[in-house]
Amino acid sequence: MDKVVALTKRRGFIYPSSEIYGGLSGFYDYGPYGVALKRAIRDLWWRHVVDLRDDVVGLESTQIMPSAVWAASGHLTNFVDPLRQCTGRCKKRWRADTVTGDRCPECGGPLDEARMFNLMFKTHVGPVEDTSSEVYLRPETAQGMFVDFKNVINSTRVRVPFGIAQQGRAFRNEITPGNFVFRVREFELMELEFFVKPNEDDGWFDYWRKERMRWYTDVLGVNASRLRQYDHPKASLSHYSKQTTDIEYEFPFGWGELEGIADRTDFDLRVHQEASKTDLTYLDPETNERYLPWVIEPAVSVDRILVTLLIDAYDEDVVKDEPRVVLRLHPNVAPVQVAIVPLSKKDDLIKVAREVQSSLQGEFRVEYDQTGGSIGKRYRRQDEIGTPFCVTVDFETLSDRAVTIRKRDSTEQERVAITGLTDRLSALVAG
Ligand code: GAP
Repeated sequence: MDKVVALTKRRGFIYPSSEIYGGLSGFYDYGPYGVALKRAIRDLWWRHVVDLRDDVVGLESTQIMPSAVWAASGHLTNFVDPLRQCTGRCKKRWRADTVTGDRCPECGGPLDEARMFNLMFKTHVGPVEDTSSEVYLRPETAQGMFVDFKNVINSTRVRVPFGIAQQGRAFRNEITPGNFVFRVREFELMELEFFVKPNEDDGWFDYWRKERMRWYTDVLGVNASRLRQYDHPKASLSHYSKQTTDIEYEFPFGWGELEGIADRTDFDLRVHQEASKTDLTYLDPETNERYLPWVIEPAVSVDRILVTLLIDAYDEDVVKDEPRVVLRLHPNVAPVQVAIVPLSKKDDLIKVAREVQSSLQGEFRVEYDQTGGSIGKRYRRQDEIGTPFCVTVDFETLSDRAVTIRKRDSTEQERVAITGLTDRLSALVAG
């Protein structure tokens, strides 16, 4: 993990937030390659959960929502963690369920009694800070989908079973953020609320568990042997859940939750219907039945996928007697899919290299890499950011109108005519 953290800082993936002011615990900024990787993850999720299907539609609801939403959803009372604080020297706060005994794991001082701590960030709308103006930054995007359920069914032609998908920021005042961007206080959630007929939830729960697992292995290229499913026992279910399965990954700190898939029953629509006094039932146009749909919810953060991909891809090997660090990211997600590497700074070479760059930019995430020193040094740098293919423009290119594709994983080289380059790279990216 330390090596991954160092690499992401050194190579411009992730920086501590507000670092020049000492940082802010549990908050991170994403640099140029981090942004590209996040965007790729987000786009692939949207493509597979929304665009390639005809039963899911999108939504963007606000990040701040009124107290009434969180009172109804149960978050005001249930979205809590037990907290214990050291009353000795270090005054550190701990999640009570992560410490054993009454002594502080940091300094050995006494811990106070556990008390419940609500993880939502509260703020106020308007100039007066009283209880009537209290609002919360959302800890999940899901509530937006439930609160807008009626708007979506009234304004579109969706029919149960169907889903509403959302990607967006979520905020949790975690007591112990940590393991890099695995647990942070501001992150980007991707959630699908898939509405089904009551009693058809078990089948759809199974469907989404399989489908989400397939996405990790087949689309993101995550090592299947480091993934497993964990079914929550009844006692550890969230207040809204009938059954929950986590997709877990084997992180350096142990198996941890990557994504949660929950059967939320009709809990949310029911409580919002009651609290808002708004009919949220669905009228089945074929059977004329009226009911509150049940919900299957796959939920994951981009940040947690990103740290998973970095750890899964990190490797060290030796090429021609030289050790190298390489991120073996799947070409689908690599921040740079193709780097254009001209062998020299001679004008006629650069001209061709720039032409090659613009011919590829519409198809791939391309970086033009002229300034990074010797060709070997530039390959190493591209290996470290996970670029699967470098295209080298050399002096022969001027006469044979061909370039060399250098492959990150094998370091093999292949000579390709410039006219066939896009097709060849497309085939390589597709695997
Ligand atoms: N709407 C359901 C829900 O929010 P959750 O298990 O609390 O369920 C869903 O969170 C997913 O969000 C997790 O599986 C994880 O991928 C991500 N997540 C949760 N807390 C996070 C945090 N503090 N930092 C980064 N990602 C987090």
